[in-house]
Amino acid sequence: MRDLPQPSAQALVPFISVADMMAIIHRVGLEAALRDLTDRIEADFRRWATFDKTARVASHSDIGVIELMPTSDGERYAFKYVNGHPANTRAGLQTVTAFGVLSQVATGYPLMFAEMTVLTALRTAATSALAARHLAPKGARVMALIGNGAQAEFQALALKAVCGIDTVRLYDVDPAATEKCERNLKGSGLTVIGCTSAEAAIEGAQIITTCTADKRNATVLHDNMIGAGVHINAIGGDCPGKTELAPAILERAQTFVEFEPQTRVEGEIQQMPADYPVAALWQVITGAVEGRRDTGQITLFDGVGFAIEDFTALNWLYDQVHAGSQMLDVIADPDDPRDLYGMLMRAQRPKA
Ligand SMILES: NC(=O)c1ccc[n+]([C@@H]2O[C@H](COP(=O)([O-])OP(=O)(O)OC[C@H]3O[C@@H](n4cnc5c(N)ncnc54)[C@H](O)[C@@H]3O)[C@@H](O)[C@H]2O)c1
Repeated sequence: MRDLPQPSAQALVPFISVADMMAIIHRVGLEAALRDLTDRIEADFRRWATFDKTARVASHSDIGVIELMPTSDGERYAFKYVNGHPANTRAGLQTVTAFGVLSQVATGYPLMFAEMTVLTALRTAATSALAARHLAPKGARVMALIGNGAQAEFQALALKAVCGIDTVRLYDVDPAATEKCERNLKGSGLTVIGCTSAEAAIEGAQIITTCTADKRNATVLHDNMIGAGVHINAIGGDCPGKTELAPAILERAQTFVEFEPQTRVEGEIQQMPADYPVAALWQVITGAVEGRRDTGQITLFDGVGFAIEDFTALNWLYDQVHAGSQMLDVIADPDDPRDLYGMLMRAQRPKA
């Protein structure tokens, strides 16, 4: 029997598996990776105008969402496939899983396929840290973390690595999640305090991060819980009908967003009138708009996750890829580029 032709070098594309990703993070160091990603997202936000920008394409169901998140800077193109299914954890599955592709615009050929479940946790934490770097009160050292699931430790460590947070106060409706988070953060250098209510968790915190998962308009933070001067990173409200904050908090806060057309549909601001004022985080970074004005102001980063953050994360990952990566045979590569049919037919095994 004839052997099938082997794929050419052109046919092969590096694939970063979950195991590869874990090895890369351990080699680089998690906090170093979070710092690097934060700086790189900031650099890409500074060149906002160079990117294609489109709200992500979402396919909703009663229990979750599947989304595609594309963007390009004219040289490289990236997209992420990501889901959000808050009830999944009850079945032993994750709320959020993701994978993605980085391609070259010049030929349209992919440069890399990658797992993005871990990478999404990193880039989401880095984006929260970036927002806090520009908006949180100076000298903030204590953060509250409401929702202690898959994203939680990454959020805490990014705020430690980038903003100098030294204490994290935890709360989750499920005490087992808080215990898991306390266990995981032991030895991280953070003082970790498990709390039995959201009210207790936010006591003394200058930064409050909400990263809960629930497919409804939840009120994780009530208006009377939020004092003057705090910065809030609200990242769990990221779908129509899925929010975390009482609207009255938004009335008192100055709100910052990633890409306004997407956030109007998916973010906390879906609860507000269409003319509710927001500012873009990238414009705070470039200095085009003011960030925190004074120590009494409540600042809110209404983070939903935007494609440029994934583009940055995939490019960061591509820089970590070494020779010897797994290669996937995903691009058909006929000897004559117009003879795809001939390539297929030559691969036919002779009948016995
Ligand atoms: N903005 C972004 O870029 C971005 C990125 C990734 C994930 N997310 C969102 O962040 C959220 C968290 O993701 P995850 O992967 O950690 O999910 P997860 O399911 O692993 O954890 C969520 C935790 O929230 C807790 N929770 C639910 N309701 C709560 C409440 N009212 N008060 C306190 N705790 C509550 C749950 O018990 C659970 O432990 C999800 O909603 C997800 O869609 C946003």
